[in-house]
Amino acid sequence: MESAERMCVFRLIIGLMVVPFAVYLYFASGSAPIATPAPAMPFEKMLASKALHARLDREIPESVPISGDESNYAAGEQIYEDNCAVCHGLSGKAQTTIAKGMYPKPRTLLEGKGVTDDSAAENFLEGGGWHTDDG
Ligand code: HEC
Repeated sequence: MESAERMCVFRLIIGLMVVPFAVYLYFASGSAPIATPAPAMPFEKMLASKALHARLDREIPESVPISGDESNYAAGEQIYEDNCAVCHGLSGKAQTTIAKGMYPKPRTLLEGKGVTDDSAAENFLEGGGWHTDDG
C-alpha cells in the first residue's frame, strides 16, 4: 500500500471513530438529559416507539387467553381497585395522599390520553418499563 492510500485509510478510520466517540462524550460528560423531569434525549421517542412496535408486532398474542365477559371485567375491576387505584385513581374520586406524594406522578389511568386509548398489549409492555406516549 502506498503512503497516500495508507493516509486515506487512516483518515477514514479516524472519521468513523468520531461519531461513536462524540456519543460517548455526550453520555460520559453528563450532557444527556437523564433526570426524571428532563426532556427526551434526541431521537429517544422515535427509537423507543420503533422498539415498542417491533416487539408488539412479534409478541402480540393471536388469541386472547381470557374472554371479555362480565365476570372477567368485574374481576379485573376488583384487581384494579385493590392493587392499582391507590396510585392511579378511580373516576370521580379525589387523588389519594399516596398518589399526591409520588414522583414521578402516577397517571390517572381511567381518564385522559395515553392509557385508555392504547391497546391492551401496548399498556402491558409500557407498564413493564418503557413509555413512548405515542398512542
Ligand atoms: C405505589 C403506586 C403504584 C401502584 C400501586 C401501581 N402503579 Fe402503575 N405506575 C405508578 C407510577 C408512579 C407510574 C409512572 C412511572 C413513570 O412515569 O416512570 C406508573 C405507571 C404505570 C403505567 C404506565 C402509564 C403510562 O404512562 O403509559 C401503567 C400502565 C401502570 N402503571 C399500571 C398499573 C397497574 C395495572 C397497577 C395495578 C396492578 C399499578 N400500575 C399499580 C405507580 C403505581
